[in-house]
Amino acid sequence: MKKTSQHGQWSSRMVFILAATGSAVGLGNIWKFPYIAGENGGGAFVLTYLLCILAIGLPIMMAEIMLGRRGRQSPINTMRVLAVESNASALWSWLGWLGVVAGFLILSYYSVIAGWAMAYVVRVASGVFDGATADGVSHIFGEFIADPEKLLAWHSLFMIITMLVVARGVKGLERAAKFLMPALILILILLVGYSMNQGAFQQGVSFLFSADFSKINAAGVLTAMGHAFFTLSLGMGAIMVYGSYLPSRVSIGSTTVIIALADTAVALLAGLAIFPIVFANGLTPASGPGLIFQTLPIAFGHMAYGAFFGTLFFLLLVFAAWSSSISLIEPAVAWLVENRKMSRMRACIWAGLLTWLIGIGTVLSFNLAADLTVFGKTFFDLMDYLTANIMLPLGGLCIALFAGWVMAAETSAKELSLPNDHIYKAWRFIVRYVSPVAVLLVFLNVIGLI
Ligand code: PHE
Repeated sequence: MKKTSQHGQWSSRMVFILAATGSAVGLGNIWKFPYIAGENGGGAFVLTYLLCILAIGLPIMMAEIMLGRRGRQSPINTMRVLAVESNASALWSWLGWLGVVAGFLILSYYSVIAGWAMAYVVRVASGVFDGATADGVSHIFGEFIADPEKLLAWHSLFMIITMLVVARGVKGLERAAKFLMPALILILILLVGYSMNQGAFQQGVSFLFSADFSKINAAGVLTAMGHAFFTLSLGMGAIMVYGSYLPSRVSIGSTTVIIALADTAVALLAGLAIFPIVFANGLTPASGPGLIFQTLPIAFGHMAYGAFFGTLFFLLLVFAAWSSSISLIEPAVAWLVENRKMSRMRACIWAGLLTWLIGIGTVLSFNLAADLTVFGKTFFDLMDYLTANIMLPLGGLCIALFAGWVMAAETSAKELSLPNDHIYKAWRFIVRYVSPVAVLLVFLNVIGLI
């Protein structure tokens, strides 16, 4: 097995934690988590999501990092060499392909939403939200997404800045992440403070944390599980490719726990900031993808120095989206460099162009093509459902099966080097039985077989 990847290596454990947390913390935590929690009734959904993080996300994240570090290549080639090493079929490299496709599809709509956040940097800074009412804020949002040209322009700009960073390698971003990630958390805490004073805080907290299981159905459970994969960047090779740049001596177990804790904390803070504003202003929790854009500007419009903090908040959100986007496309770029002998720059241009094109479908799904639906879903809904609810859990399931059943126990034990044998045994039991069975049960439940 190779000792390092041809694409380079993280300089320390801290840098890996920053990069992986940068990948995990993104629109998923701040934009998606609150609105899907809102659509699925709150508490029971949140609890299911937390359970999935613990029982499925954490162990599979360890498995995915471990596979990446052992293979030291793009996920497609990593899966191939690991399969060969284990005397299994080289067809496992399809798992890498599934991830590459999922990465393209996710980034295609992720970039459009990140574009909204960029547009809001400018809007909040201009002071249009000063003293704004809930109606006014919703109106501004509605007008914005009705304009395909604007959405396309911001989507294009976001894709360009993403591909620029990917082309030059991720070193610069690491340095920035050191300050920007803590800043994002601080500003979220500030927002929670605002919600405590000005929002319907009690109501928000009880919406998020008191679980009434009659409010969640099979589809909601699938969404919660899918989101556990999405928010931890699991099941498509992003964390695998980051793992392939991880130095051999770093312990995978504790590192994973830190990343998952940080990710979950950001999501819960976002929920605590948003729902009190929702209830205090008579908005509905199930407002859909526009939720943060229709709630947070109300807070920024009324708090002291709101324009300043609001601009900063959306800037940091763009940054968080940016550091996630890079990991969405890295598996494809690494493969193009390895197998097509392209320069990083060329690989980025092709991968970026393809993603940008698919993204146009999402741009139009909010305006001109809003009525064009398949199974009642717009293009954006379809992309989101296909990736988060199907492809990522499927990818994660295969990763668990590979790590638990195909790879030899000595190999995984050595590569993970967990603090003691009990922890290793528990991990192995979970990836062999618990996580795969849980994912399968949720799938079967949704298609109505159980
Ligand atoms: N985890 C990112 C977020 O929460 C999204 C993502 C998914 C990134 C899959 C990489 C891979 O925003």
